[in-house]
Amino acid sequence: MKCDVLTLFPDVLAAYLNESILKRAREKQLLDVTLYNIRDYALGPHRQVDDSPYGGGAGMVFKPEPIFRAIDSLKEDGEPRRIVLLSPQGKPFSQSMAEEFSREEKKFVFICGRYEGIDERVKAIVDEEVSIGDYVLTGGELAALIIIDSVTRLVPGTLGDERSIENESFSWGMLDYPHYTRPREFRGLDVPKVLVSGNHKDIDRWRRTQALKKTLEVRPDLLDKVELTKTDKEILSEIGLTSSGEV
Ligand code: 6GU
Repeated sequence: MKCDVLTLFPDVLAAYLNESILKRAREKQLLDVTLYNIRDYALGPHRQVDDSPYGGGAGMVFKPEPIFRAIDSLKEDGEPRRIVLLSPQGKPFSQSMAEEFSREEKKFVFICGRYEGIDERVKAIVDEEVSIGDYVLTGGELAALIIIDSVTRLVPGTLGDERSIENESFSWGMLDYPHYTRPREFRGLDVPKVLVSGNHKDIDRWRRTQALKKTLEVRPDLLDKVELTKTDKEILSEIGLTSSGEV
């Protein structure tokens, strides 16, 4: 994944990008991120990036000039770019969008908004607008990190073992099953016997049952979208439920 991030707070992003898996992905050149401070593209003695809204009202609006100037400057290298504006008005981000982003050849530009909004004319130079969920953040920085994180871990070579992606929540359309590690008994709490049985058929079925139960309990909406296997339907009738959660 290649991306440029336009933000007023590059240090916020740098802190997270310089640790753990993302740091390693950058060292291996699986992730290429460049951070740009939007204020560096602002004009005037005060390098002002915001102003009061036309039409009145509370709060400040991000000015268009610094963002247009930053994008003009990025485009000078002629590399094809996909420009994404991060805002609560965007299309909701999801695991399937992360998968599509991970296959993108173009360099992304993520524009992190701040203040109450951004001058609408910025949309003229944006390819798409993306939101990370139905809540309001003070700025797009966390959204940029969430997108970069979820996309990078899908880039082959980023995780130690690519199998860890196959079984996890959402990529198989359901919530994950419970995990256990040593010790076998901890403060009176036991690891389920089936997991130490060595019977992989039983283990697979137990995990699938747990995932189905958990999903029915907290995210029944996910089961409407997932293609249930014959085994899943058997499991659901055994636990006395249909995929719609009815008994
Ligand atoms: Cl991308 N930005 C802000 N400021 N708030 C959000 C968001 C983005 N996505 C959800 N809430």
